[in-house]
Amino acid sequence: MLSRLPSARLARLPPALVVRPMNATPASAGSPALTADVRSAAGLWPILLDIAQARRAGGVPVLPQDTLTWASNMGWQLQGRWDAQALELFDLFKPLLDLRPERAAWVIAQLGQSLDGCVATRTGDSSFINGPENLLHLHRLRAMCDAVIVGAGTVAADNPHLTTRLVAGPNPTRVLLDPQLRLAGHLETAHVFNDGQAPTLWLCDARWQADAVAQVGADRVLAVTDLLRDDATLHLAHAVTTLRSRGLMRLFVEGGGVTVSRFLAQRCLDRLHLAVAPIIIGDGRPGLRFDGPARLADCLRPHCHVYRMGPDHLWDLDLRTLA
Ligand SMILES: NC(=O)c1ccc[n+]([C@@H]2O[C@H](COP(=O)([O-])OP(=O)(O)OC[C@H]3O[C@@H](n4cnc5c(N)ncnc54)[C@H](OP(=O)(O)O)[C@@H]3O)[C@@H](O)[C@H]2O)c1
Repeated sequence: MLSRLPSARLARLPPALVVRPMNATPASAGSPALTADVRSAAGLWPILLDIAQARRAGGVPVLPQDTLTWASNMGWQLQGRWDAQALELFDLFKPLLDLRPERAAWVIAQLGQSLDGCVATRTGDSSFINGPENLLHLHRLRAMCDAVIVGAGTVAADNPHLTTRLVAGPNPTRVLLDPQLRLAGHLETAHVFNDGQAPTLWLCDARWQADAVAQVGADRVLAVTDLLRDDATLHLAHAVTTLRSRGLMRLFVEGGGVTVSRFLAQRCLDRLHLAVAPIIIGDGRPGLRFDGPARLADCLRPHCHVYRMGPDHLWDLDLRTLA
């Protein structure tokens, strides 16, 4: 159960910031309703999934009566009475649900980090920085997106499944961002190549395409022309365009720090969720790091909301508001 920040702290927050508590009750574990006419987050989650899935199919969702309505100037609106947790869940996913068909492409990232900005210890241990409430949120993000993208370092360190096993909802396509096939030595043990849970794409620079196809087959390779520049930086807009040409419109960049930083620095993110946990790691693997401006006045200061998520605070940053 989550609680609101103390009001004394609210008063010190900058005007662009709104603090909201955030429900962490699993869709499958919540009580169905507080009373006969107050509905819960457990009842809302499948409706949100229906909206996202109808959009994917280019259709219009058929929703239970008096739950949500669409207005062209306001997007989706909740109807009737919902408990606080449902309202919070709706708030957090509304920006994604409101995307119009002609603007259906979207890139969101999440990082779970310590108070001192690390996403893992120096040995790569990151299980778990955040509490179970944030893990649930991570799985909800996967369920809402067409593809989940991770860097090669994350696959090497964590060997993740990248599925939605904690929530109702489809598994996304798993995309491993690995321009030069650094994961070649991990193919036999990597869950994403062996668990059969969802499609996996090895996303590499076109110069390594033949090599990749020889190792995992053409259907598992997505080659991007000029992904790797001569100076060894990545041209991520090319990667995003290539994924969209495959119908993968809603992209979730799940880590690690290097990969999310690259997407942020290249302005390839629409939204960023930073889940800050009350832990101090020290000389760990860094979260966001990139060549920033010299002047504080030129630094990124996105519009944001803060949600209390169990022991953590989730910073929901709207990066489309940046100049
Ligand atoms: N807390 C969280 O939210 C979160 C989420 C995901 C991961 N993690 C943790 O973050 C760490 C990984 O993130 P990251 O920022 O280091 O990398 P990353 O973003 O996952 O992947 C990109 C980086 O990994 C390097 N790399 C490529 N192949 C590698 C290999 N086989 N072994 C090791 N590194 C390789 C890449 O080097 P090149 O550019 O030279 O190829 C690049 O610097 C892990 O410890 C993981 O547990 C935390």
